[in-house]
Amino acid sequence: MTGRTPFYITTPIYYVNDRPHIGHAYTTLACDVLARFKRLDGYDVKFLTGTDEHGQKVEKSAAVAGLPPQVFTDQVSQNFRDLARAMNFSNDDFIRTTESRHTRSCQALWQELVQRDQIYLGGYKGWYAVRDEAFYAESELVIGQGGQRLAPTGAPVEWVEEPSYFFRLSAWQEPLLRLYETRPDFIAPDSRRNEVMSFVKSGLQDLSVSRTTFKWGVPVPGDSEHIMYVWLDALTNYITAVGYPDQSGAYASHWPADLHMVGKDIVRFHAVFWPAFLMAAGLEPPKRVYAHGWWTNEGEKISKSVGNVIDPLALIARYGLDPVRYFLMREVPFGNDGDYSHRAMVNRVNGELANDLGNLAQRVLSMIDKNCAGRLPQPGSFLDDDRALMQAAYDLLPRIRWLMDRQVFHEALETIWSVVRAANGYVDRQAPWALKKNDPPRMETVLYVLAETIRVLGLLMQPFVPDSASKMLDQLAIAATARDFTCVSSDYALRPDQPLPKPQGIFPRYVEAVGEGDEGAQGGR
Ligand code: MSP
Repeated sequence: MTGRTPFYITTPIYYVNDRPHIGHAYTTLACDVLARFKRLDGYDVKFLTGTDEHGQKVEKSAAVAGLPPQVFTDQVSQNFRDLARAMNFSNDDFIRTTESRHTRSCQALWQELVQRDQIYLGGYKGWYAVRDEAFYAESELVIGQGGQRLAPTGAPVEWVEEPSYFFRLSAWQEPLLRLYETRPDFIAPDSRRNEVMSFVKSGLQDLSVSRTTFKWGVPVPGDSEHIMYVWLDALTNYITAVGYPDQSGAYASHWPADLHMVGKDIVRFHAVFWPAFLMAAGLEPPKRVYAHGWWTNEGEKISKSVGNVIDPLALIARYGLDPVRYFLMREVPFGNDGDYSHRAMVNRVNGELANDLGNLAQRVLSMIDKNCAGRLPQPGSFLDDDRALMQAAYDLLPRIRWLMDRQVFHEALETIWSVVRAANGYVDRQAPWALKKNDPPRMETVLYVLAETIRVLGLLMQPFVPDSASKMLDQLAIAATARDFTCVSSDYALRPDQPLPKPQGIFPRYVEAVGEGDEGAQGGR
């Protein structure tokens, strides 16, 4: 035990039938930002991501690729690890459902459910959508343009008739509703909570949890004809990674998870099936499930068939990593759907990163370099205007902490920006370039106040733009040991006379290449 408060955060595990796209990068980025925030704030963080490698969908993709499923998943899973590196994700573990630790955990959970009489053998007759890996009732189906039946998500469905084990989900309707009532924070945002509650109130049917018509999955213990339903297998990853079935060690310290971050399409699996499986096995449900919205591309739904899938690696190559991280967390109120467009990206990058923050740091650091012999200035006594700016910066931490705990990432950035803007207003008011001639000691005070404000902004930006924030802090000669959030305080204020490295620009402006799409030609402010 570390003595620090544990914090366990997870991403969905990604199907390996596909190359990683912006949706995958987005979910994990939100978790990464929160995991980094919590680490800097003193928590013992476990941040898990990984790949969902079983099921019919993956088996079919392997067949299309002409590869045995294990060879196929070994190859494609690597793309998700590569994405994690490219996006600078700080996950502590990467789970693959084809690992032996996971088979063991799934089979142990299954046996526990059997022993508690939560699973029985029957037969399934009904609709199944391979794309969603989900069963649908006749009444849920919609009719497509060609007259064919479709899942409500638009996925094609097929008729399935096979022997199947069932989980007694119907028995968990009341306990689930009690869970949602007694823990109003269990599902967020509220719109998703309402959606889940009305689904559960409308009645739950027992859930088919095994399949016999294909083989790519975890074998059901004691009945080799069956493999486990891929969602039971996949959801179990969250406890596998803390050592289940061993309930000492990481399980004891980190379960229940503090947060399962998911997209809105998979909230039902996480907020209904998963807590029911856990409660039925005598285990604690997670503390919270947050379902974020979906991205569209220049106003259009992202889809492989339309050919407008956004490759996060291409975005990084074009705009740089930290601008992409910043944009994804800032552009759209977290929880809502949002639209990606080149113009919106350029506006954020140039308007906020390059102009507001980048210029502020660059101006202040070059004035210090030129006028204070490259050393941190020596402040005289502070005026109200000076104190107000530094205090506003120190006060950011509790405000942002509150927002991060509720996953209001865009407002956390907006709140940080209130101080970025205040600092720019302060520069204009105090006009240190004029003080240089009239009142050099006062100029030193003003530059000191600005440098101290930039220090605090740099500390607080670390979770969002880790490399750039680290460069900002390097330029103020902040030691690696003085970068956690205990340092967001006047007790750790900059030491005058400290020599500084040569200033360098941190957030370059995005400049349109000649002939680039005209929609971006007027990017920037
Ligand atoms: N394998 C399941 C999850 C199992 S978790 C026990 C799965 N995988 S997925 O690869 O299809 O999707 C993973 C995540 O990507 C989901 O949270 C989904 O919402 C998200 N996104 C997929 N497309 C998206 C957008 N266009 N925009 C934002 N997120 C989207 O589901």
